[in-house]
Amino acid sequence: MTSAIKTRKRVLSGMRSTGKLHLGNYVGALQNWVGMQDQYQCFFEVADWHALTTDYADTSRVKENSIDVALDWLAAGLDPEKSVIFIQSHVPAHAELHLLFSMITPLGWLERVPTYKEQRENIHDKDLGTYGFLGYPVLQAADILVYRADVVPVGEDQVAHVELTREIARRFNQFYNRPKEVFPEPQALLTPAAKLPGTDGRKMSKSYGNTIMLTDPEPVVRQKLKTMVTDPARVRRSDPGNPDVCPVGDLHKIFCSRETMAKVNEGCRTAGIGCIECKSWAADSLVQLLNPMQERRKKFEENPKLAWDILEEGTQRARKAAAETMDEVRQAMGMALNYEPAKASAK
Ligand code: TRP
Ligand code: SF4
Repeated sequence: MTSAIKTRKRVLSGMRSTGKLHLGNYVGALQNWVGMQDQYQCFFEVADWHALTTDYADTSRVKENSIDVALDWLAAGLDPEKSVIFIQSHVPAHAELHLLFSMITPLGWLERVPTYKEQRENIHDKDLGTYGFLGYPVLQAADILVYRADVVPVGEDQVAHVELTREIARRFNQFYNRPKEVFPEPQALLTPAAKLPGTDGRKMSKSYGNTIMLTDPEPVVRQKLKTMVTDPARVRRSDPGNPDVCPVGDLHKIFCSRETMAKVNEGCRTAGIGCIECKSWAADSLVQLLNPMQERRKKFEENPKLAWDILEEGTQRARKAAAETMDEVRQAMGMALNYEPAKASAK
């Protein structure tokens, strides 16, 4: 068992703890993670410190949000028997490595990160002129490298952060490499981004209020589908439409069976079906996907201690793996904890 674990490549990924997840989080990340668990040794972290980089002023919901994320993960099929699932702030080694990385990371690298520039320009309701916000990708580098992860599954928007992680690893290895280099350079594994529209046809996003949540009960899913926008050219029932320009059509492409897709393609283009019927089929597919998740989630909701125990167990395993890295980090930097008399200078 142990040797099998060692030969498998390591994966680390995370999500900021922003509360309950929606279908976009599922198809954009979670579904992919669930499928990686057999092939890799996986670490999945709820990044609550990362949530603080923007939401530092009010921490009243951080813990609850973290637990909600973890519950959705477990509901979606992340399996604590296979993967290490934990909350970032429960493993202080992330902060320690973040501090050391902050010593060697040039400011210019951080100021150039696209997400940093974008968010500074677009978010005005919070003061993001903080040390922690600028250091966001340094913390992410610590998350990844403290487990010496080989592979980091992420969406397009996070690729620059993994690139920076590689640069930090390289720079650390250049400075401190005795007795050996500590860090591998992790690879970003781009999650194939299915185009998942929200109910208003824009990208599904919490900030647009157009989401379908993994926890939405069947009637809510059906209601949201009813109000979902469709091909604008299809005004009357007798007008033919085009599923390729319809957000409901996009949902079908991701979630429905091949037979249903054929019926949608044919029926929509010939005005053989109405949008109401078509949407009810889309709702059927979603309900079929969400039902088993909600069943699984119920078990944890009824007994929250169960989920907490899983996270605690994950924390223990994560701490152990992180401690091994930190020992090597200290050694490489000549700051090991053991007492070692000063070495005699070379002859
Ligand atoms: N920054 C990531 C996001 O916003 C979340 C995250 C934190 C992460 N730590 C990570 C992702 C480490 C991958 C690896 O989605
Ligand atoms: Fe969209 Fe379906 Fe209506 Fe076609 S029939 S426009 S795919 S909702």
